[in-house]
Amino acid sequence: MNEAFKGEVPNDFQGKVGWSSPSNIALVKYWGKRGKQLPQNPSISFTLSECRSETFIGFEKADRFGFQFFFEGQENPAFGAKIEQFMLDNQAFFPFINQLNLKVESRNTFPHSSGIASSASSMSAFVMGLLEIESQLVGKEIELRKASCFSRLASGSAARSVYSKMALWGATDCYKGSSDEYAVPLENNIHPVFKTYHDSILIVSGEKKSVSSRAGHGLMEGNPYAPARYAQANENIKNLLIALKSGNLDTFINITESEALQLHALMMCSNPSFILMKPNTLRIIEEVRNFRNETQIPLCFTLDAGPNVHLLYPESEAEKVESFIKNTLSTYCADNKWIADCVGNGPKKLL
Ligand code: PMV
Repeated sequence: MNEAFKGEVPNDFQGKVGWSSPSNIALVKYWGKRGKQLPQNPSISFTLSECRSETFIGFEKADRFGFQFFFEGQENPAFGAKIEQFMLDNQAFFPFINQLNLKVESRNTFPHSSGIASSASSMSAFVMGLLEIESQLVGKEIELRKASCFSRLASGSAARSVYSKMALWGATDCYKGSSDEYAVPLENNIHPVFKTYHDSILIVSGEKKSVSSRAGHGLMEGNPYAPARYAQANENIKNLLIALKSGNLDTFINITESEALQLHALMMCSNPSFILMKPNTLRIIEEVRNFRNETQIPLCFTLDAGPNVHLLYPESEAEKVESFIKNTLSTYCADNKWIADCVGNGPKKLL
């Protein structure tokens, strides 16, 4: 990776950068960490297209680090404090911030109360902006591997958002070049069917989660099932990589649904235990499995750390699945709300 810029920032250095970066949905889940934001097991995700954060960073030369954060037009000290802390903790990686005043303005393209985790999109968009400022100082292109590594330091799953289509984060013997420090792109090793996969996100509840991801990761320490989980995740990575390459949808469905249920089972086995699914989460799962059995359409579900259900299906089945969502599944959603998303192309430069 390129060295950080450690020189003197020119006195007339100022401007504004803007990046949009997507959220991602994990198929094999990252749940449990160690050290400095390192995963206990590798994970694989689809990069989304529509659910994104758009972040602008205004910058000017200053005597010391200055920072202001606005979310959707309003100053937001709580969220700003998180980003500021991330920068202070990691200033060895971007020492030039100590000579800059930054004004950050961010917004999400998905609705505020949709219960969609925004840390992957917002942190990766912010890191892309920060690296863009550095690239103006050094005159070199942004390295996606470096963007992935720094995004990981801000929010683990954000490491996977910087690549188009699919990403793998975490070291595994099954994939050359994989690392715990950063994610790697999978785009060139997947069957075309996955490059246009759909993800319809059914909003069962838009309420704030009762237990944060950070606390959930922490509870994996001491969870009696943790060693078995990490072994199983490695096995699932191995088999999913094979299925992704060949386009084997039966294996894809089997692993994806099992991973979602394992994630929530781990929460139920933590001490203290917690449950993030809602009754309608289970109703939707039951409907999806019945629909798949009756129609043979390869529709499956996954879950994030929350009650909302992500429905995954090939582009060729979109019409039938979307009418099933409208006619049946949306009745289980808060205000009948769902978001039509699909696999996308990673971060985009806005300015
Ligand atoms: O990146 P974090 O710390 O918010 O953790 C994300 C955890 C899951 O979303 C549940 C799984 C994953 O791999 O994205």
